[in-house]
Amino acid sequence: MKIVGGPASQLLASRTARALGTEPALCEFNRFPDGELYLRIAGEINNESVTLIQSTPTDSDLVSLLQLIDACDEAKELNVVIPYMGYSRQDKRFKPGEPISARAVARCVKADRIFTINIHAKSVLEHFSGSAQNLDAAKLLGDHIAGFGLENPILIAPDEGAEGLVMRVSYGPGFDYDHLQKTRLSGDTVTIKTKNLDVTGRHVVLVDDMIATGGTMTESIKMLKAQGAVDVYLICVHPVLARNAALRLFNAGVKDIIATDTLEKAESRLSVAPLIADALKSL
Ligand code: R5P
Repeated sequence: MKIVGGPASQLLASRTARALGTEPALCEFNRFPDGELYLRIAGEINNESVTLIQSTPTDSDLVSLLQLIDACDEAKELNVVIPYMGYSRQDKRFKPGEPISARAVARCVKADRIFTINIHAKSVLEHFSGSAQNLDAAKLLGDHIAGFGLENPILIAPDEGAEGLVMRVSYGPGFDYDHLQKTRLSGDTVTIKTKNLDVTGRHVVLVDDMIATGGTMTESIKMLKAQGAVDVYLICVHPVLARNAALRLFNAGVKDIIATDTLEKAESRLSVAPLIADALKSL
């Protein structure tokens, strides 16, 4: 199977290829003088199985993914892995006149199989034309936290939406877990309230699928520290970390930020390559 990594997922594609005992295809990424994207996969793709790996945090990355799919039109079968799928949070029409952007994106992706990783809403999967599967990085996160050696940590989701994730992350190591109550006021401001948990003197690990502006986590960190948490770590699958998110989080007193390489950032210390490689091996 040929592994092809798009511009947003070069490291992850290389790690996945290595986990499968192969090398990723070499690709050229460039721009025409007018700014349009140019891309080329080295070597021919002829009647073979191909797996494309490309996250789509930006509109350009989405165009690159569509170009890669088109470049593979002569593949025998095509798998597309979208480790982080942009627009997945607009999974419904919140106000009249809005698009369901996640559906619009999914409908453009034509492949035999599509894999996502901890996609924000699983309902998005039904909008892909091929068979779509969501892979879960929860065990990887749980094993990583266990490696910190923290004494009796408590894992906390900042809202009800991440309750399932924090439960699955805690399951293997047997950590305590809970969730907070979040109300979103705008794109980057939220209010957070506790439920009944007592974090006094405890190490807290906040767990979420993604950190975008950092608004959710900033408020959560401040509140948990005010309530007596010893230290607060953040772990997430997708480190979007838009604008000044990292600064906001450190100013709020976070101990450390750990994320996976669905998005390739300095915080991406945990690779989902084994997850993707296992899914491809089982085909
Ligand atoms: C929303 O439901 C997600 O799970 C995250 O909590 C959210 O996207 C984080 O956004 P931000 O970092 O901008 O608060």
